[in-house]
Amino acid sequence: MKLTRATSPLKGTVSIPGDKSISHRAVMFGALAEGTTEVTNFLQGADCLSTIDCFRRMGIEIENTPDLIKIHGRGLHGLSAPSGILDTGNSGTTTRLISGILSGQSFETVLTGDSSIQSRPMGRIIRPLTQMGANITSLKGNGCAPLLIKGRLLKGISYSTEVASAQVKSCILLAGLYADGPVSVTEPALTRNHTEIMLRSFGADVISHGRTARIYPSPKLHCQNICVPGDISSAAYFIAAGLLVPGSEILIKNVGINPTRDGILRVCQAMGADITLLNESFDAGEPVADLLVKYSELHGTEIGGDIIPTLIDELPVIAVLACHARGTTVIKDAQELKVKESNRLDVMVKSLSAMGANVTAMDDGMVIEGGSPLHGAVIDSVADHRIAMTFAVAALTASGETEILGADCVNISYPGFYHDLEKLVRQG
Ligand code: S3P
Repeated sequence: MKLTRATSPLKGTVSIPGDKSISHRAVMFGALAEGTTEVTNFLQGADCLSTIDCFRRMGIEIENTPDLIKIHGRGLHGLSAPSGILDTGNSGTTTRLISGILSGQSFETVLTGDSSIQSRPMGRIIRPLTQMGANITSLKGNGCAPLLIKGRLLKGISYSTEVASAQVKSCILLAGLYADGPVSVTEPALTRNHTEIMLRSFGADVISHGRTARIYPSPKLHCQNICVPGDISSAAYFIAAGLLVPGSEILIKNVGINPTRDGILRVCQAMGADITLLNESFDAGEPVADLLVKYSELHGTEIGGDIIPTLIDELPVIAVLACHARGTTVIKDAQELKVKESNRLDVMVKSLSAMGANVTAMDDGMVIEGGSPLHGAVIDSVADHRIAMTFAVAALTASGETEILGADCVNISYPGFYHDLEKLVRQG
């Protein structure tokens, strides 16, 4: 994919596809509920399709049409043993959440994914699940997938997670559906709470108190109708493009603004961004709004501490904002970026430097001196969807031509991304 600088303002409206985290959960909880769960605005990205595939292979009938997904749930104990290995593709959410569910089944499963998944840390779920009595083994002995999970009745625990990770929290809470007593998870910083919100709507007994979530054993979950809010992580690329391309004014429709996900809005505001929230409402128990984004002159800021989990997936594109902001931006406490679909800290520092940015790597983040003009470069997406989309935005703000290698990986979370971006560029 080759892109060049946007020579005129971005104008128009973009509707954001469904939230990836919420789409995964809708399929999983629908499969474990009694009755048929109907889902609209489901994200048809490769990651969510991996979740559908895994549950189909455990006997769940799922009708997937462009406008509506129907999941014919079979109850908490209705899954059947898959005939072969479950393949979670590139999806960390599928891998970690499903591991919690599989730990409580009456069958054994082998779970694996692509080469990225096979190098991502699973010790963080193996440890709590083992404390709950699960029998879960990393088959290569390296703490990564493939995982062999022999399901059984689990024990209730109170667990403090070592990293702020919604995937770990959700894995433990889902295992809690199969425990003989309450399961509590306390995190070092509050992470996205979609599992808690949606499990409650399915009838589970889940209590949230500060950084602790607790689930009590539930006899059943009840099917729901779910309209998935647009994904703020996908909206982030248009927020950045609108703020950076001079004269732009874009309306980004239907964006989930759950406070555990809205860190990018708070950071943009701290950088001087002109973003207005319109038409605020609720979908699936989650706050949503349209975002009116206008070109803004930004200044640097410091990003660290408890805000990090609320913008963890947006940090790559925030780094591009920082390149164009006046002064210094410091990103710290973000070491989790090293264990995402790629090592996003390394990749961002290397690729932004290749475009002429003034970036210094830190052990837990980076320091960016804004104001060095960006120029086009050949950027390897390293098959990481967020890296590809981040550099598509950077390309709009750089002189010359930028080539993104492996640009197709956007299909993981946003199959129509280039089309939607081009539409805004063309309307300018
Ligand atoms: C997700 C949680 C985050 C995020 C990922 C989706 C989820 O990962 O980066 O894209 O759906 O729970 P961690 O929980 O590992 O931080």
